[in-house]
Amino acid sequence: MCGITGYIGQQQVVPVLLGALQKLEYRGYDSAGIAVLNNGELLVRKAKGRLTVLEERLAHETIAGTLGIGHTRWATHGEPSDINSHPHTDVSGRIAVVHNGIIENYARLKEWLQARDVVFRSDTDTEVIAHLINYYYQTSPGGASGGLLAAVLEVLKRLEGSYAIAVVAGDFPDRLIAVRKDSPLIVGLGKGENLIASDVPALLAHTREVYFLEDREVAILYRDHVDLFTEQGEKILRAPSHVDWDVESAEKGGFAHFMLKEIHEQAKAFADTLRPRLKTIAQSSGSTADAEYDINFDEITLDASWATAPRIVITACGTAWHAAMVGKYAFEHFARIPVEVDIASEYRYRGPVFNRDDIFMVISQSGETADTLAAMRLAKKGGARILAITNVVGSTLSREADLVLYTWAGPEIAVASTKAFTTQLMCIYLLALKLGRLRSLVSGTDYQRYLVALARVSAQAEMVLGKKDMIQRFASRQFNKHKVFFMGRLFDYAVSLESALKLKEISYTHSEAFAAGELKHGPIALVDENTLVVAIATQHELFDKIASNIREVTSRGASSLVITWEGEKGFSPIADEVFTIPKTEDSLSPLLSIIPSQLFAYYCAVQRGNDPDKPRNLAKSVTVE
Ligand code: M6R
Repeated sequence: MCGITGYIGQQQVVPVLLGALQKLEYRGYDSAGIAVLNNGELLVRKAKGRLTVLEERLAHETIAGTLGIGHTRWATHGEPSDINSHPHTDVSGRIAVVHNGIIENYARLKEWLQARDVVFRSDTDTEVIAHLINYYYQTSPGGASGGLLAAVLEVLKRLEGSYAIAVVAGDFPDRLIAVRKDSPLIVGLGKGENLIASDVPALLAHTREVYFLEDREVAILYRDHVDLFTEQGEKILRAPSHVDWDVESAEKGGFAHFMLKEIHEQAKAFADTLRPRLKTIAQSSGSTADAEYDINFDEITLDASWATAPRIVITACGTAWHAAMVGKYAFEHFARIPVEVDIASEYRYRGPVFNRDDIFMVISQSGETADTLAAMRLAKKGGARILAITNVVGSTLSREADLVLYTWAGPEIAVASTKAFTTQLMCIYLLALKLGRLRSLVSGTDYQRYLVALARVSAQAEMVLGKKDMIQRFASRQFNKHKVFFMGRLFDYAVSLESALKLKEISYTHSEAFAAGELKHGPIALVDENTLVVAIATQHELFDKIASNIREVTSRGASSLVITWEGEKGFSPIADEVFTIPKTEDSLSPLLSIIPSQLFAYYCAVQRGNDPDKPRNLAKSVTVE
């Protein structure tokens, strides 16, 4: 996720772009840049670091101009650096581009351009766009007279992936071109000025009249009007929309808090995590079920040593440790590799025994958690090869690990982790299934069935979110409970751990998770009429067992909620409430079963008057021991 903006009008563009970038900085903050058209010449300024670094640099010079584009970056391809920051320019330096999204076929496009003597300066996927526009600008029918639009339309035919793009060119001081597919882009219509941005708040200082660009629509912004086109170059006529959000809620996309926004972003985050790795190798019809898939990690190679690794060791903290717990069940289930899961802060002090052939994994949203880094360094010193799963490109973890899988969740602002967790799970499932297949433990038919199930998860997450009012109502009745216990077995136990952490960290309710079979060994002594017990029940073979556990707690006065599959009737007679999630494979259930718990924690926190985005005593990134 990055933020892009652009302006054409009467005002000096630098302060306008910086103002918009401040509003977009939540979308990415590892670097920022602008390009301004000044007397036919493009001036590009960019800097690694927060937007303030760029602002300080710009404070020392005057850049005049009334047309420009800007970018705030959340690195995906290429570490955060001045060079990799946007805007990117073509070889002539006369075309500048900013981009939000991922160009999946950039490596092929880069080779194609290099074969035509184009020299690349950055490691980004975006740079291919600038060079391709120049290529078609110079060579398309009609040559340069074909114009910038013709060149952009040619380039769109070649791009695979997601993008919101803005383009300016020295030869065209009267226009800015913008286009989107699978990444948001909004056109703001002002008086004598027009602008674009990835999100509404960046436009509100200028206008409330907007076009929400549809996928594959192209906009040409002039000072006095805006034209919209299809990607075939046909003109589109439609009325603008009026935005009446206040600025604060607009920053959160209309949601009351970043946490709620990020819970909702999970459906898209699943798709973003999956898309570059799930390759369609055959397709007999347009339907997901008829496709044949494989998993391919462009960023890591799973050589033969992966298939023969004797053990996987995973360390992490907090929510990432819960993802590791799901990983334990997933790797053992699909690939039959023994997995040891360790809390990173414990691992570093217990004189761990590792074997050079083990796979050592570290999981961290931020990639900066002190304990996780220390555990990784210890293992590395002992000769282990490290695979990191992280959300932040250029983080310390990503730089020091041997192999990195990015979760592509986009920036997570709320302290309580939600979309980072579920995308960590998605990466784990992809790895576990691939290893299972490499070790011939998952049959070809089962492999396809699981991959089809993964491809459906994004849509199923939307369905769970569509029923959030039920959870809200439930929370409004239960938020004052003194104790909330989550219980489950196997995958459901791992989800219980994460559910209890979510609830305690933002609602400050005393909540714990138990492996349901452990209840009788002690925890049941805590159960009374002030207790809510949430049972996660998605493992068919253990339904009878969990049903007994539910009876045990309700007969001692506890209220109960069961989270289970749609169509499961067995729990309604024994529980106070049942919340159902769309059916997927039992072994993939955590991808969906955690969402009701995230919503429950969120609504309890709100009911109790807490700020879920900034819970007391907690920090987003724990960089000290
Ligand atoms: O950035 P990391 O994933 O390494 O962070 C680990 C934990 O600090 C983090 O998951 C923490 O538990 C969150 N507040 C959970 O919501």
